[in-house]
Amino acid sequence: MKKVIIITGAGKGIGKAIALDFAKASTRQNNFDPQLMLVSRTASDLEAVGIECRSYGATVDIMAIDIAEITQIDKLVTATVERYGTIDCLINNAGVGRFKPLTEITEEDFDYTMSTNLKGTFFLTQKVFSVMEKKKSGHIFFITSIAAKTAFKSSSIYCMSKFGQNGLVETMRLYAKECNVRITNVMPGAVYTPMWGEVPDPMKSFMMMPEDISSSIVNAYFLPQRTSVEELVLRPVGGDINE
Ligand SMILES: NC(=O)c1ccc[n+]([C@@H]2O[C@H](COP(=O)([O-])OP(=O)(O)OC[C@H]3O[C@@H](n4cnc5c(N)ncnc54)[C@H](OP(=O)(O)O)[C@@H]3O)[C@@H](O)[C@H]2O)c1
Repeated sequence: MKKVIIITGAGKGIGKAIALDFAKASTRQNNFDPQLMLVSRTASDLEAVGIECRSYGATVDIMAIDIAEITQIDKLVTATVERYGTIDCLINNAGVGRFKPLTEITEEDFDYTMSTNLKGTFFLTQKVFSVMEKKKSGHIFFITSIAAKTAFKSSSIYCMSKFGQNGLVETMRLYAKECNVRITNVMPGAVYTPMWGEVPDPMKSFMMMPEDISSSIVNAYFLPQRTSVEELVLRPVGGDINE
């Protein structure tokens, strides 16, 4: 069955792993025919991920947009519905972080973080939900973070944005349960991705890998529609990296 799946931040890291895992699922999951809409700001990343996903038989579209821009979110949702007729799944994964001591955070750091993590996530969810609400089905994942429930000293605005995303998740549950839409809050601890920049080897061996997160997401998606995995909390076995 055709399933239209939008994945934001699909060019790198966790989002790329989610795109590849949905594409690979088409080779083993009966009747699963994914139509992937891959989104990030960097077209070259999306093109590379698109080629890999197509090699597993998935249909792939890419859209290089900034989710902090509402007009670009409109363009994404309109184009997806025009091309495929509906949206079955949204993976709210795109996110940014500026990790510094509290007193060094600038207004630009603040606006940059909030415009993607909060404004972009909110308006994309709002517009996609209005499609799902009408057809009374769908699944929205939010890749929040352990930093959505635990504070880290160097992560003040990141934590603020992720705690804020939790507020949206909980509000969305109230709307979603009335129209058969599943909401999953994915809260990973440290995952080795480009978000971390250069990582020393001992720290890298402590961290989770993007495919650890993506496989849990795809498994949650394939559960029967009657069952909603409300939260996935995934941590390195050694716990959190305290910074
Ligand atoms: N890595 C971790 O330890 C970890 C742990 C918990 C939660 N998370 C969360 O997981 C999500 C993915 O993180 P990651 O580690 O995979 O990060 P990443 O490697 O930096 O990748 C982030 C992706 O999001 C895209 N993106 C960022 N801002 C965007 C915007 N405004 N519009 C469109 N695309 C945008 C980036 O592409 P462009 O820059 O090309 O746009 C990139 O493809 C984030 O929400 C992050 O907060 C990460």
